[in-house]
Amino acid sequence: MHFHSKLSAAAAVGFFWLQLVSAQTGSACSSVSSDQAFDYIVIGSGAGGIPIADRLSEAGHTVLLVEKGPASSGRWGGTMKPKWLDGTNLTRFDVPGLCNQIWADPVGVSCTDVDQMAGCVLGGGTAVNAGLWWKPHPADWDTNFPTGWQSQDLLEATNRVFARIPGTTHPSMDGNRYLSQGFDMLGGSLDKAGWKYVVANEHPEEKNRTYGHSTFMYSFGERGGPLATYLVSASSRKTFTLWTHTVAKRVVRTGGHVTGVELECNGAGHAGVVSVTPKTGRVILAAGAFGSPKLLFRSGIGPTDQLNIVKNTTDGPTMIGSESWITLPVGYNLNDHVGTDVEISHPDVVFYDYYGAWNAPILSDTETYLNNRTGPLAQAAPNIGPIFWEIIKGADGVDRHFHWQARVEGALNTSMTVTQYLGTGSKSRGRMTITRQLNTIVSTPPYLRDENDKKAVVQSLISLQESLSGVEGLTWITPKANVTAEQFINSIPAIPSRRGSNHWIGTAKMGTDDGRAGGTAVVDLNLLVYGTDNLFVVDASIIPGMVTANPSAAIVILSEHAATKILALPPPAS
Ligand SMILES: Cc1cc2nc3c(=O)[nH]c(=O)nc-3n(C[C@H](O)[C@H](O)[C@H](O)COP(=O)(O)OP(=O)(O)OC[C@H]3O[C@@H](n4cnc5c(N)ncnc54)[C@H](O)[C@@H]3O)c2cc1C
Ligand SMILES: *[C@@H]1O[C@H](CO)[C@@H](O)[C@H](O)[C@H]1NC(C)=O
Ligand SMILES: *[C@@H]1O[C@H](CO)[C@@H](O)[C@H](O)[C@H]1NC(C)=O
Ligand SMILES: *[C@@H]1O[C@H](CO)[C@@H](O)[C@H](O)[C@H]1NC(C)=O
Ligand SMILES: *[C@@H]1O[C@H](CO)[C@@H](O)[C@H](O)[C@H]1NC(C)=O
Ligand SMILES: *[C@@H]1O[C@H](CO)[C@@H](O)[C@H](O)[C@H]1NC(C)=O
Ligand SMILES: *[C@@H]1O[C@H](CO)[C@@H](O)[C@H](O)[C@H]1NC(C)=O
Repeated sequence: MHFHSKLSAAAAVGFFWLQLVSAQTGSACSSVSSDQAFDYIVIGSGAGGIPIADRLSEAGHTVLLVEKGPASSGRWGGTMKPKWLDGTNLTRFDVPGLCNQIWADPVGVSCTDVDQMAGCVLGGGTAVNAGLWWKPHPADWDTNFPTGWQSQDLLEATNRVFARIPGTTHPSMDGNRYLSQGFDMLGGSLDKAGWKYVVANEHPEEKNRTYGHSTFMYSFGERGGPLATYLVSASSRKTFTLWTHTVAKRVVRTGGHVTGVELECNGAGHAGVVSVTPKTGRVILAAGAFGSPKLLFRSGIGPTDQLNIVKNTTDGPTMIGSESWITLPVGYNLNDHVGTDVEISHPDVVFYDYYGAWNAPILSDTETYLNNRTGPLAQAAPNIGPIFWEIIKGADGVDRHFHWQARVEGALNTSMTVTQYLGTGSKSRGRMTITRQLNTIVSTPPYLRDENDKKAVVQSLISLQESLSGVEGLTWITPKANVTAEQFINSIPAIPSRRGSNHWIGTAKMGTDDGRAGGTAVVDLNLLVYGTDNLFVVDASIIPGMVTANPSAAIVILSEHAATKILALPPPAS
């Protein structure tokens, strides 16, 4: 199936260039050359890894970015696509309307060593997610983060990020919003109930009984985000090197000083030990909320029970000796938004089959998308929005932030699923651990482990029910009218498959209370791992407590801020 478009000439050039690159690299695994060293090795190319790799290379340092997965976006040589994208420079990752393909066909894209959904491709979560893109509420920083990481401290980094990735509330390039019946019905109903319309990223602090259109990181009708901005500028520098298909196994260290990273091929990648520049080089873990703790465990850093599990696997004979282990509470403080799905139905709501857009798309919609980047396929599946917010004070006096996210999907063509996320203020925590097969698992789910969290979740649901109580033609499908909000909340198991939101954070917490001395922190305020002098963590793992909204923008911001902090540090003492 081919569509002729004005993009096809440019697309064809891109295509041939990519063919050439893949012909050169083939499928062979290359050995790392022993005379090569980098000032910085960044492991993982997600929301945390790409921005800091760019900033460090911009400052003149040699930077190696290591990614275990393959290319995703067509921009970087990705090839996974439905037939209707053949001959274009786009893949499934580039088209907003195909973002839910991660659920339909995760093979070769999602991580196989994590018991949750996570993207193990170039871009990590930013390649597979729905692109929702939020400027954080000031309380996200002020409630959760320590000195030096308050909202005032993060202003500059926030401005830099939003200058590069402004985001949009109307992804289709003609400025129209398609299939807005769901938004109009639900948003209109909230409006009548007194909720106020806001352009969320212009007023990030207005998140109490407000609603708005979703904001996405998309640009020019494509996914955009860090892959289309930070990685582009990084790649334009001779000092920057990207190795995909390359798994970091562990850092190689002598005491608290890291000298290199041990790599394994995952296809046409690189294997062997790659060194950091002697004395001054640094390693940055950005492998995600499960990937970074796993790397720490395999490097002999973490709770003794977890290090013993690694020692008892194939790693055992080669693992750093227990006399050099650094005991830190890695994996504790795990958190995720508590997700509660409710379902409503209204005759005005119109369904669009985004799931069918892979094999049997509506041809006129693929044409408008391919020609002009307009129409439903320029919007996130499955027609996300409105988004609305409320702050509810718990019995313990703590303000809890709720972020509600609606989408049109369900068994009935008139139905909307609305997910409630419990964000900033949540006190529940869980734990991730590692199995003997070296898979990471959520051993203690973080959901609703605090009574006041649970009460606030119930209260927030009642608030929505009350706000929608007068809407003509609206039917509650879940929970049913004869079930109380409390019965409903109590009936949902507090496990990831029923509560999960894929917004995992917290497993290498930042703080001043050094975990080696019984504190809760794994990294200090410069994101340096306690007990080391050149190993950092810069990703979702370091976030101390849950943020209000989908977290990718907050992670990009903290990565920008981390770059400034790390670049300002004196070189390691040794
Ligand atoms: C399906 C889904 C939908 C989501 N939707 C949204 C959304 O719409 N908006 C939003 O803001 N957030 C969303 N999120 C969450 C968001 O994408 C993540 O919070 C964010 O990407 C986490 O950033 P990170 O840098 O911590 O890790 P990641 O982005 O997960 O990046 C980690 C990277 O490290 C690589 N890696 C791991 N281990 C190794 C290793 N040993 N060696 C080499 N490389 C390694 C991985 O392959 C991956 O590329 C979604 C997440 C998922 C899974
Ligand atoms: C595809 O090509 C168009 C036109 O040249 C360009 O604007 C766009 O950024 C490209 N997208 C990707 C993902 O390469
Ligand atoms: C949120 O709104 C409610 C009701 O309008 C109000 O009682 C509460 O004080 C507000 N909370 C914050 C933090 O603004
Ligand atoms: C590791 O193996 C030893 C010896 O086989 C065993 O005694 C110990 O319980 C194991 N520890 C863990 C954490 O699996
Ligand atoms: C693309 O946009 C142009 C200019 O607005 C318009 O004439 C054309 O019909 C559009 N093509 C498609 C397939 O929508
Ligand atoms: C929903 O609409 C699709 C067409 O968009 C149709 O094929 C399907 O039968 C409808 N389903 C229901 C339950 O009405
Ligand atoms: C609520 O009503 C449904 C039918 O609509 C019924 O199946 C269910 O058992 C009832 N639940 C309770 C708690 O009464």
